Amino acid sequence: MPVITTIDDLKRMHRRRAPKMFFDYCESGSWTEQTFRENTSDFDKLRLRQRIAVDMSNRTLASTMIGEDVTMPVALAPVGMTGMQAADGEIKAARAALKFGVPYTLSTMSICSIEDVAQATKAPFWFQLYVMRDEEFVDNIIQRAKNAGCSALVLTLDLQLLGQRHKDLKNGLSAPPKLTPRTIANLATKWRWGLEMLQTKNRSFGNIVGHAKSATDMSSLSSWTAEQFEPKLDWDMIARLKEKWGGKLILKGILDVEDAKKAADLGCDAIVVSNHGGRQLDGALSAIRMLPAIVAAVGNRVEVLMDSGIRSGQDILKARALGAHGVMIGRAYIYGLGAMGEAGVTKSLEILAREMDLTMALCGKRDIADVDRDILLVPKDFEGDWA
Ligand code: GLV
Repeated sequence: MPVITTIDDLKRMHRRRAPKMFFDYCESGSWTEQTFRENTSDFDKLRLRQRIAVDMSNRTLASTMIGEDVTMPVALAPVGMTGMQAADGEIKAARAALKFGVPYTLSTMSICSIEDVAQATKAPFWFQLYVMRDEEFVDNIIQRAKNAGCSALVLTLDLQLLGQRHKDLKNGLSAPPKLTPRTIANLATKWRWGLEMLQTKNRSFGNIVGHAKSATDMSSLSSWTAEQFEPKLDWDMIARLKEKWGGKLILKGILDVEDAKKAADLGCDAIVVSNHGGRQLDGALSAIRMLPAIVAAVGNRVEVLMDSGIRSGQDILKARALGAHGVMIGRAYIYGLGAMGEAGVTKSLEILAREMDLTMALCGKRDIADVDRDILLVPKDFEGDWA
């Protein structure tokens, strides 16, 4: 067993263990992947201030997110097809999050259904909704999330059309994988994944199959989004969905100050500054670069969370220092899941917490609530002077 000390170690194991089409799905950005790359490389431009001779004992990362107590301000982001990275992946990730004391968000495009996860975890999780053209399906899935006791609805607003990820097209991405000579050759080398997958009934889009009418190909994310996602989604529709849900609402996929203001005007509980992990608009600025302006515009009216690019506890501290109340992680836990199932997700969370805790101390802080802009050195041109 290798000694696992970083998120990158888990990524290497994930690459070895999961079928190529699913690892590639996780590790892709859209088109040239510029935004995907800069989401992480922009974190490296921020530097931390080393401080000394301050009391570093009794440290805490405990915080809240949308009023829920968390052991650290990190939620597991919704990730499509999580249950293809490892059998019953959504259940494993939700259990790890619950044990660790952080929120789990189930994607509409998950393999295990809302009901499967609710039954297996017995704890509230957040549910992420993609708005579909079929209103009956949307009403029904909102009701299903209520019945399951979900404590927040996360409405994703940056994926009404799917950004093109070349690898997915080349690999023929589908759930379950279609058995072509190429996929069979690859699956033959992934015996552990295959054996576990044979033992679960959850191998297609669990929230959709059996609940949605009139889809020609339910196994393909790209055909499903093209046929079913509502391209007319606008602020009036978002307001109606807010009414229908009636509970805590998080608006995800905000990367522009004007949109952040509209979200705050609507009266949501939190926004997530995000470019969908660089998977949608290639050429957009990284989420960490857009964060300060958005915090300045709406931070006093709404809780600001961020995602896209976080791979370490140091990154989380940097986001917090630039004004994010908390973060969501996607790939950082999916690598763990693909590497080692539930134990791997726990490992990811432990790595991030340890990095955050020690780094916070080395910056001279002992309570995450006190981490602010003071711990950072930010290059003068970090946000950029764009016309
Ligand atoms: C879906 O949310 C995706 O980014 O693939």
